[in-house]
Amino acid sequence: METIDWKNLGFGYSKADFNIRCYYRNGQWGELEVSDSENVTLHIGATVFHYGQEAFEGLKAFRGKDGKIRVFRMDENAKRMQQSSRGILMAEVPTELFTGAVKKVVQLNKSYVPPFESGASLYIRPVLFGTGPQIGVKPADEYLFTVMVMPVGPYFKEGFKPTDLVIYREYDRAAPLGTGKIKVGGNYAASMVAGERAHHEGFSAVLYLDAREKKYLDECGPANFFAIKGDTYVTPKSESILPSITNMSLRQLAADMGLKVEERRIPVEELAEFDEVGACGTAAVISPIKRIYDADNHHEYFYGTEPGKISSQLYEKLRGIQYGLEPDPHNWTTEIE
Ligand code: PLP
Ligand code: COI
Repeated sequence: METIDWKNLGFGYSKADFNIRCYYRNGQWGELEVSDSENVTLHIGATVFHYGQEAFEGLKAFRGKDGKIRVFRMDENAKRMQQSSRGILMAEVPTELFTGAVKKVVQLNKSYVPPFESGASLYIRPVLFGTGPQIGVKPADEYLFTVMVMPVGPYFKEGFKPTDLVIYREYDRAAPLGTGKIKVGGNYAASMVAGERAHHEGFSAVLYLDAREKKYLDECGPANFFAIKGDTYVTPKSESILPSITNMSLRQLAADMGLKVEERRIPVEELAEFDEVGACGTAAVISPIKRIYDADNHHEYFYGTEPGKISSQLYEKLRGIQYGLEPDPHNWTTEIE
């Protein structure tokens, strides 16, 4: 293993020692297999290539000050991958198989879990896809579930420093009754044109509006959106956004801190009334937002160059639980032996 510059890691792929594979054939899942290869051999007719039968997850393992490794809320990722399977008719990965694979892949790649001091973590990427051939539009009868890991730093290069978002009304990420609420690859393919334009124009992500009316906030590229308004934590309710596990955790932590929590439609104009705004997700953690530029109306909402007080408290609380610095009253973490 070459020496890793833990402190300067970005969010990108790098090879670890091992990954896990599990095949679904003849209506059942096989045993977990360990591999040191980054490749798989697939049928050219596999449904993943032709009809996008694919879903993925993202979760993290953290090395605490006490040296212990903890994985955050993996049962929720297992459940969400099952929802994705139901959404595009793939075989479901049972929770125990999912969590067993996550524990095993972390154990096998322990040396890639960044040291506590670096502030980095081990990103875990489970992927499920149709490997059986179909040429008519039908679900495959064979699937492969894989889990790979890699050490990562912050998704937005600013880390916990405020970042800039942009609103463009000419792109939709997902249709109102479509696949936005599940984690399928097609949603991310559909977001690349707008995402790349945002990067070229100096923004870290697109803040999407609802596809039906373009009146309400949906989510930001690879993360959910939240805001603080007085003593309230507000986050969009929408049928086309991914139910973020980080956001679910922040709603709980906000309530524990005595804040009110609202999940509701948020009209774009309400951006002018928020004290703090942020993006949240596994990769994004909590990324405070400095500025939101409405590109169609040439209007800017500005929030400040430093993270807000409540966002900082939520960040500290969440990181405290993930790194084992604080009690974990909701049993969100699993220690890896
Ligand atoms: N929204 C989208 C579109 C995402 O890709 C992600 C990342 O998984 C999130 C939100 C955040 O979800 P989570 O907090 O479960 O990582
Ligand atoms: C995550 O936060 O885990 C994601 O999947 C977001 C992005 C990298 C696609």
